[in-house]
Amino acid sequence: MRGILLAGGTGSRLWPITQAVSKQLMPVFDKPMIYYPLSTLVMARIREIMVITTVEDQPQFQRLLGDGKQWGLSLTYGLQPRPEGIAQAFIIARDFLAGGPAALVLGDNIFHGVGLGQMLAGHNSPAGGQIFGHPVADPSAYGVVDFDPSGRVLSIEEKPARPKSRYVVPGLYFYNGDVVDIAGQLKPSDRGELEITDINQEYLRRGTLNLTLLDRGTAWLDTGTFAGLVQAGEYVRVIEERQGFKIGCVEEAAWRAGFLDDDELYALAGPLTRSGYGDYLLRLLDWKETAYLR
Ligand code: DAU
Repeated sequence: MRGILLAGGTGSRLWPITQAVSKQLMPVFDKPMIYYPLSTLVMARIREIMVITTVEDQPQFQRLLGDGKQWGLSLTYGLQPRPEGIAQAFIIARDFLAGGPAALVLGDNIFHGVGLGQMLAGHNSPAGGQIFGHPVADPSAYGVVDFDPSGRVLSIEEKPARPKSRYVVPGLYFYNGDVVDIAGQLKPSDRGELEITDINQEYLRRGTLNLTLLDRGTAWLDTGTFAGLVQAGEYVRVIEERQGFKIGCVEEAAWRAGFLDDDELYALAGPLTRSGYGDYLLRLLDWKETAYLR
């Protein structure tokens, strides 16, 4: 399965702070925002990833992430000149996906939960569309999913005025190889975007949309507003300072996935010791740390 990390958009809900720098490069406590969704894909054992950005922001992303070899990954870059919708990612990535299954993660979505990686890795060859559900206080700002007691999806609606449930669909989606053709046939919505929710509705129509509820030990954090951004940073800080384990550490995720060996992790730590980040990587090589939360 190949992955797409969508990191375009204007970031206008965070202006002026994102007027000169992409939102997905903003810090969330001790690392750039994009590290979190990138490590989510790596935890799902996906190593071939296309990072889609705006034209202006691409050089900064390349400076930060490079070709991914340092982490045992293969990163390529795609361009989205204008934010014409999340579903456009599949059209941009058509050649990269080469007809195979695809995982899409939004560059501003942060997930944290024990066992999450293993659960996600189990979805690497979906029969159709695989989405997730998570309860929130104000569902009307998201894609809302309604389902019956057996977990069968009844409806999925984008930003409904009257939500049918309080379960929303986070920005992490797995699809079979049909997704590119489905995206190619979409028409722009009233807000002028190719909607990811329309892709999910098409899988629902075909009877191949599967919903998995994230368990309540899983945190899904929103970084879409000033307050959400600060709260996400605070969440990461509290957990990291208390546990001594980092959230969204790409190096750690790659090493735990077996994409990096001990020597490679050790080599990555060197240049990062002044901030303390490298010391964390070195500590992972201690056998007791390895035994814990493997
Ligand atoms: O966060 C989950 C939600 O994301 C889902 O529940 C919704 O169904 C889905 O439509 C989306 O809702 P938003 O309205 O919050 O999406 P937004 O336009 O804020 O875009 C989310 C991220 O994707 C944002 O960081 C920018 C990026 N993006 C978005 C669009 C529309 C792009 O890179 N290109 C785009 O064209």
